[in-house]
Amino acid sequence: MRIAVDSDDAGLELKRLIVEYLRESGVTVEDLNMLASQKVDYPDIGYNLARRVAQKEYDRGVLICGTGLGMCMIANKVEGVYAGVCHDVYSAERLRKSNDAQVITMGARVVGPELAKSVLAAWLKSEFEAGRSAPKVQRMRELEEIERKRAGNS
Ligand code: RB5
Repeated sequence: MRIAVDSDDAGLELKRLIVEYLRESGVTVEDLNMLASQKVDYPDIGYNLARRVAQKEYDRGVLICGTGLGMCMIANKVEGVYAGVCHDVYSAERLRKSNDAQVITMGARVVGPELAKSVLAAWLKSEFEAGRSAPKVQRMRELEEIERKRAGNS
């Protein structure tokens, strides 16, 4: 599994710990570290990672900002990308099992490092269960397509 990670300024320290934790967990991680080369904020950082997930350069993505909210909002603007903010283990598990979202976002001003690692551990080991969730996720995709066509016609 290839995972991309990035953060804005508010999430830099938590991102560093998360990258270290994911590497120790044995997954292939890339810190996109957009801030190292460009003075940008969470919209561009989140968009860059989400685009690369949409293009299948990475299987999943982790985005950190102050609250997790801005990163989640921008990642969900990219067609085919589904993101959720998770600050607890149960939601992180359901984000994969029920919602089939590829991107998890967290707020460095909301969670501490140990909880963030537990949340990520649950997210890492969870996969989409399909079953009763499949038609709901399929309906999200259909509505996304309807919205895309509607926007194209306006
Ligand atoms: C700081 O720019 C803060 O607004 C940002 O990190 C994030 O929490 C936005 O959702």
